[in-house]
Amino acid sequence: MPADPSQFDAIILGAGGAGLMCASVAGQRGRRVLVIDHADAAGKKILISGGGRCNFTNIDVAPDRYLSANPHFAKSALSRYRAQDFIDLVDRHGIAWHEKTLGQLFCDGSARQIVAMLLDECDAGGVRLALGSPIRDVAHADGGFRVMHGDRVSTAPALVIATGGPSIPKLGATGFAYDLARRFGLKVVEPRPALVPLTLPDSEALFRSLSGVSAPVIARCGKASFAEAALFTHRGLSGPAILQVSSYWRHGQPISIDFAPGAEADWLIQAKRQRPRTTLRTALGATLPDRLATALADRLPAGELGAQSDTALKQAERLIADWRFMPNGSEGFAKAEVTVGGIATDGLSSQTMEARKVPGLYAIGEAVDVTGWLGGYNFQWAWASGWAAGQAI
Ligand code: FDA
Repeated sequence: MPADPSQFDAIILGAGGAGLMCASVAGQRGRRVLVIDHADAAGKKILISGGGRCNFTNIDVAPDRYLSANPHFAKSALSRYRAQDFIDLVDRHGIAWHEKTLGQLFCDGSARQIVAMLLDECDAGGVRLALGSPIRDVAHADGGFRVMHGDRVSTAPALVIATGGPSIPKLGATGFAYDLARRFGLKVVEPRPALVPLTLPDSEALFRSLSGVSAPVIARCGKASFAEAALFTHRGLSGPAILQVSSYWRHGQPISIDFAPGAEADWLIQAKRQRPRTTLRTALGATLPDRLATALADRLPAGELGAQSDTALKQAERLIADWRFMPNGSEGFAKAEVTVGGIATDGLSSQTMEARKVPGLYAIGEAVDVTGWLGGYNFQWAWASGWAAGQAI
């Protein structure tokens, strides 16, 4: 008797990086897998990632580069499916890549190659895709799941939630994963936009005057600190250093910027001894972009360094190294690369991603309360968590 075409071993909701990885692994283990997505194409976030070149992993992946209410949760999956495993896959598909900065790996060509690779891998596992197929309902009875999608009904004993987080709704992102998880009794850690530009009130005149300027800084928020570039925008601050600290930032918390990263102690006092006739503006201009040097100097003691006391120069150094400001918000989910928070990990097995209290239900990828730093860490979590569930379903 032919197999019932509506019955599968596993149904995966979401054809993003995590869902496709999970599907290909399970399919190649002989499972009959269906992937359902309301979008008309798979892997839309992959296509736009890394400026179209997909920063697909990072060679420095480590659990402490992920945010989660349980910092230990990601360890198991990340250690069983490593950056090198994904690099090996990319190499097997003949995709050329290069390392940019800070261990970030990008395709030489296009992010399309990563989507094509994942779809080839799904194909090799006989995975069925139902794209452009809105999910109308999910029911759970008799140890199985029944998904009403488009004009079809499909069933399976295993259901994987891989519909990501709500970042960038115009790409089809939704909070569907959270609604579904709650229906099954799983908790959700409050989702917040992360890796997102921060906005500033009008009172932050220094920053407002610098729109378009970029500078290497150390940005700090609480205990988190990142030495990368900051970019001043007409609404606030962006650039990698700011995106990184944004994941740690909460309303009402100050951010601190060191505009002279790597400067020696007493550098202004030394400059005064060596070149007493020079001004603070000129001293700052030696290392900072012109407009930034002018804007900072305008807010510090004027005149020649030789005319300033060591105490005043020391205080100026401290201000430059710890310039504090209070963002009034972020650019929100519309501009956030990822979401911090999500399906609480305490309800999931870190080995398999299966819900502890709902056998057969799994959650992977960005839908889960695990969020990586900027730089390929989020895709590595998508691959690793997808792989872990793909081994289990
Ligand atoms: P993802 O969001 O990719 O996939 C979820 C899928 O579920 C989508 O296909 C969506 O259509 C579908 N879906 C959602 N709701 C649904 C519903 N109600 N019904 C049916 N289907 C539904 N990371 C990184 O490591 N390196 C990088 O270079 C970048 N660059 C980057 C750029 C930009 C602009 C963004 C927005 C994000 C990044 N990221 C990144 C983050 C990375 O894209 C993200 O972490 C992963 O795509 C998450 O993969 P998932 O498969 O979990 O979700």
